[in-house]
Amino acid sequence: MQIKIDVDRSYFVFIDELEKIYFDTKVVILTNDTVAKLHLDNLLHKIHAKEVFVISIKDGEKYKNLQTIEEILNQMFQYKLDRKSLLISFGGGVISDMGGFVASIYQRGIDFINIPTTLLACVDASVGGKTGINNKFGKNLIGSFYQPKAVYCQSEYLKTLSSRELAAGMAEFIKMAVIFDGKILDFIENLDENDFLNSNNSEQNINQIIQESVRLKAMVVSKDEKESGLRMLLNYGHTFAHVIENQTKYKKYLHGEAVAIGMHMANTLALNLGLLDAQVCQRVKKILNKFNLPVFYKILDVEKFYEAFFLDKKTHHEKINFILPCGLGKACIKNDIAKKDIIRTLEEFL
Ligand code: NAD
Ligand code: GLY
Repeated sequence: MQIKIDVDRSYFVFIDELEKIYFDTKVVILTNDTVAKLHLDNLLHKIHAKEVFVISIKDGEKYKNLQTIEEILNQMFQYKLDRKSLLISFGGGVISDMGGFVASIYQRGIDFINIPTTLLACVDASVGGKTGINNKFGKNLIGSFYQPKAVYCQSEYLKTLSSRELAAGMAEFIKMAVIFDGKILDFIENLDENDFLNSNNSEQNINQIIQESVRLKAMVVSKDEKESGLRMLLNYGHTFAHVIENQTKYKKYLHGEAVAIGMHMANTLALNLGLLDAQVCQRVKKILNKFNLPVFYKILDVEKFYEAFFLDKKTHHEKINFILPCGLGKACIKNDIAKKDIIRTLEEFL
């Protein structure tokens, strides 16, 4: 199965189609120690190139920073990679975000492809060309829009994911269902969560999830590559999630888990503003619970939490852009919510 991402530098997402790839250039594979141990040998059998180098970094969101980028760049210079060389990001969203960013700045830009190994990266992070890293001010605040040449999602790599990782990927899929396609929520509700979380998934289920989400992402990115409108909707839950991840130093929650809490916070705000009815809010909460995703974060200081919104990339001219569901399969951007209404919602999480 192939899905086209129709942007300036169009490319395809291939689902379960990677057998062997041939490159007449040098190739560098960027991965991390966990993924390398599990799957690098398998990948190396599929990649044929002039020379193949591997850069394996430490595992974790806390390494998604400028220091690691510099270490990666230094190794690339030591390997004498040139402007025709190609980078392959082989890992979860942390690797695809960093690999894409490095590719966008190495000698002013080299080609890269993504081979995502988490569900989250297959359904979201590896597609659409958002690249970036965190710094002490917040999440993904440094980065670029830089599209890959291709994305290869292979369900064989997802078989080693823990139930927690699978659920985190599911959070981004639930996100897309809530904002774009209520019918997908029916599909998610009918999934057997025990089979799903214990990796007893049929390949058919996993591939259907990947296909549906890539199809939605392709539609959004093709219409709004640089996030001037429609693509902002994909940030549903993220305004809250980024604050939570930053406050917990990227250690306590997986990204998808923080997004799950963020979605519930956004739904609560939408409910309080009369944009969403209680039934939908409850339904989404129940679905998040079904996959053991968290929906509550104890806010210690409401003012501080509120102030942190202003460092978000979605804040323009001092106005916070909240992405809120306003019905099932529908979302809107609200930038005129009174501070007192936001605070009132945050207070429900004290
Ligand atoms: P991750 O990359 O940290 O991977 C999660 C964990 O799973 C890591 O410990 C990793 O080593 C491990 N892992 C990876 N593949 C594995 C496998 N096949 N088997 C066993 N373990 C495996 O996190 P993630 O959840 O994949 O991605 C989250 C990141 O993606 C965040 O930094 C987020 O900001 C970013 N993101 C980016 C976009 C985008 O559009 N660019 C979209 C969503 C998320
Ligand atoms: N993950 C949000 C986006 O790609 O826009």
